[in-house]
Amino acid sequence: MTVPFLDLGATYRELRADIDAAVGRVLASGRYLLGPENEAFEAEFAEYCGAEHCVSLGTGLDAIVLTLRALGIGPGDEVIVPSHTFIATWLAVAATGATPVPVEPGEGSHNIDPAAIEAAVSGRTRAIVPVHLYGQPADLDAIDAIADRHGLAVVEDAAQAHGARYRGQRVGSRFAAAFSFYPGKNLGAQGDGGAVVTGDAELAAKLRLLRNYGSTVKYHHEVKGTNSRLDELQAAMLRVKLAHLDEWNARRVAVADRYRSELDGLAGLALPAVPGWAEPVWHLFVVRTADRAGLQERLTAAGVQTLIHYPVAAHRSPAFAELGMAAGSLPRAERLAGEVLSLPMGPHLAAGEVDAVVAAVRAAVTGGRAAA
Ligand SMILES: Cc1ncc(COP(=O)(O)O)c(C=O)c1O
Repeated sequence: MTVPFLDLGATYRELRADIDAAVGRVLASGRYLLGPENEAFEAEFAEYCGAEHCVSLGTGLDAIVLTLRALGIGPGDEVIVPSHTFIATWLAVAATGATPVPVEPGEGSHNIDPAAIEAAVSGRTRAIVPVHLYGQPADLDAIDAIADRHGLAVVEDAAQAHGARYRGQRVGSRFAAAFSFYPGKNLGAQGDGGAVVTGDAELAAKLRLLRNYGSTVKYHHEVKGTNSRLDELQAAMLRVKLAHLDEWNARRVAVADRYRSELDGLAGLALPAVPGWAEPVWHLFVVRTADRAGLQERLTAAGVQTLIHYPVAAHRSPAFAELGMAAGSLPRAERLAGEVLSLPMGPHLAAGEVDAVVAAVRAAVTGGRAAA
């Protein structure tokens, strides 16, 4: 049996009739941008997140960039980011002209360590962008407390965490959170898409200006905006999928529960830790092992597809060479980049496929050479 890492087409196949109807409705309407589907999706996604406002955008990257820009962040400013994240978090800060200042994850965690943030705050720091990586919420109360002490904005990068809960509340129900609707996300479009949810009416209004050439009245331009809009087709399809998000997240939780119980205690294999206050939505199920290459090779041979999120730490990417951060400067991020391996995960993974993954991992770890 071959177990795919993620079967993207399965979401469409499950909802084919509703998605086709939504697409047909938009095509026939003659409204393709900033129309009623967007308005409805924004209202529905804001309500889902427990936020007052949602502003839909072209990508998740833009959701972070434009929020930082709307807050007036730019050249000369510093923004605290996790050392271990998808590089988009860092690129978003860099796109404003500000400098990303990395903070390491806690021991045994993938997410930013609040206890290490304060030491990274300088007179130039304007914001913290915690990432709910792999669908696991970051420790928001601790981060907000530091931000309050120093007058910083907290912009959550929730690109991987639609529906995740922190102390019972959905991520996105605080000041501002950026979401991505990249196709592989828990709530994914059939193309690119993003949104910001916020409780701040002024921020929402600025984002509406920025996404549409700095204009709300056609050909009247108040600021130097950009073009970053979610199209009506994507909004209509996302509305169909949003109605199924909780059920799909529950199926991911069921897969994760099986991995966590059936792979527990294998020598040399670290499973993701889940703090008591976290209700993750398992965008990814990421294990760690010193023998990552060996484990991946044995799983591939057994027909189990895996991926690495992410093999190169952002500060060691050529894209951030200008920061001059040598190898060894962020040891936890570098170690994670060398050890993480993502197992198949998604709402359409069949029970038999989970059985196959569990059996293959058990065999690969116990039969592996250097796994212990
Ligand atoms: C953590 C994180 N931040 C930001 C992004 C950027 O989102 P997008 O690909 O929609 O621009 C992504 C996803 O790609 C992500 O995983």
